[in-house]
Amino acid sequence: MALCIFFIFLFISPSFSAFIAPIAKRHVQSTPFYVLKLYLKTPLQPTDLLLHLGATFTTVDCTRNYTSTTFHVVPCNSSLCHSIQPNQANTTNCDISTEKAVVPGGCVILPHNSFAHVDSLALPTTNGRNPGQLGLFNDFVFTCSDESSRLLQGHAKKEITGLAGFGFSKFSLPAQVSTAASSSVFALCLSGSSSAPGIAFFNQIKPYYFLPGIDVSDHLNYTPIFPYPIAITNRRTNTKRYEYAYFIGVKSININGKPIIINQKLLTVDQNGNGGTKISTTNPYTVLERSIFTAFIEAFSNESNIMKLKSTQPIRPFNICYDADDVSETHMGPNVPAIDLVMQNDVIWRVWGKNSMVRIVEEGLDVWCLAIVDGGVRPTSSLVIGGHQLEDNLLQFDLGAKRLGFSSSLLQHKTMCANFNFTTIKLF
Ligand SMILES: *[C@@H]1O[C@H](CO)[C@@H](O)[C@H](O)[C@H]1NC(C)=O
Ligand SMILES: *[C@@H]1O[C@H](CO)[C@@H](O)[C@H](O)[C@H]1NC(C)=O
Ligand SMILES: *[C@@H]1O[C@H](CO)[C@@H](O)[C@H](O)[C@H]1NC(C)=O
Ligand SMILES: *[C@@H]1O[C@H](CO)[C@@H](O)[C@H](O)[C@H]1NC(C)=O
Ligand SMILES: *[C@@H]1O[C@H](CO)[C@@H](O)[C@H](O)[C@H]1NC(C)=O
Repeated sequence: MALCIFFIFLFISPSFSAFIAPIAKRHVQSTPFYVLKLYLKTPLQPTDLLLHLGATFTTVDCTRNYTSTTFHVVPCNSSLCHSIQPNQANTTNCDISTEKAVVPGGCVILPHNSFAHVDSLALPTTNGRNPGQLGLFNDFVFTCSDESSRLLQGHAKKEITGLAGFGFSKFSLPAQVSTAASSSVFALCLSGSSSAPGIAFFNQIKPYYFLPGIDVSDHLNYTPIFPYPIAITNRRTNTKRYEYAYFIGVKSININGKPIIINQKLLTVDQNGNGGTKISTTNPYTVLERSIFTAFIEAFSNESNIMKLKSTQPIRPFNICYDADDVSETHMGPNVPAIDLVMQNDVIWRVWGKNSMVRIVEEGLDVWCLAIVDGGVRPTSSLVIGGHQLEDNLLQFDLGAKRLGFSSSLLQHKTMCANFNFTTIKLF
């Protein structure tokens, strides 16, 4: 099978250098997370990786049942090793101790302090409408660790064997499947439904067709995007990990058209990587720094009062909930105060009810809650736009043009992220 796929790969014509991967929505104790589905190893195995927009490398837990005839450590002093660690002296990017290594010596990725490995990766090609044959990448670079298990706190350990790094790096997953690593283009569309997946597009600027035949690339607004390295401290374990995450310039937040008062300093990223607005697929809900959160909740409550919405006992971790019976609904979700993120270039990202509120149905309970949580004082990023707010929005990360294309809710255009036609066709 691997040979046959390799044979096909040799005949991929340049016009089919675009690839896709389904993104499934899963839950850990009712908290959503997003999983990229691809093929890894020889022979190829379907593999589920946690989608991580900030991680610079893909990491896989290689200790669990990892069998592949093409898996190996990147050798010390190899040209691949030098491109992974271009600024390291030749003696420091290698670890010749055999203790941790699968083979004696190996190329070490700093600051992760783990060996660089390679194996085969395969993704379906696409014409923007359907998937085609698989395209194979022989030397896909990743590291071995159980970081995904740590992020999911040990849940889903059976199904999720690693995380797919989409952060700003020559060795992110999008960069490695791109023809131009430093100017790669990828797009994400997270499904709001656990029963039908959304999709990631790689190396494709347009079209992005969703049933019934809507090219979503026609409905994008653009704003500058800034990749920025940040150290994330886990306060519980007091450990640090590094991300090269994507930031956008939000200059104000309006609720029903009225701007809330925000200390502007919080909205810019400083030299130490503090502040600003980050996009995250590993935060299920949007997180606001305490003072922004407080102002937001007050303004949202005031506007809700004007709209005659009566709040009920909030359900943790949320602060504002309404009885579902008291809230009217449209195809854009519950009818609640509109939230607008106003970008530095004055374009607006409207967050409709479907993205701002989450429905909680339990025994004797049916409520809509505002899916925005308190980030506490001095969090690393002041505003983190999380997964629930991204669902059924298409986001295009164009790293060459340094801009983010965003669609706002696709429900406005009578389509959604689960509407890609996954019927495989013959492309070449
Ligand atoms: C190991 O992987 C093989 C091939 O995917 C599978 O058939 C087997 O059940 C796995 N074993 C364990 C213990 O997960
Ligand atoms: C890497 O190559 C350099 C120059 O060829 C050599 O001096 C050095 O010992 C090598 N390092 C290792 C760990 O093999
Ligand atoms: C490491 O060695 C390679 C060749 O083996 C050389 O091209 C590269 O410049 C060296 N890097 C440093 C930092 O010395
Ligand atoms: C919310 O309403 C209260 C009481 O009417 C008012 O004092 C406060 O200024 C309002 N806050 C905002 C942010 O509109
Ligand atoms: C999905 O794509 C296949 C192949 O092009 C096509 O035959 C089928 O009609 C499409 N499905 C829908 C619902 O349009």
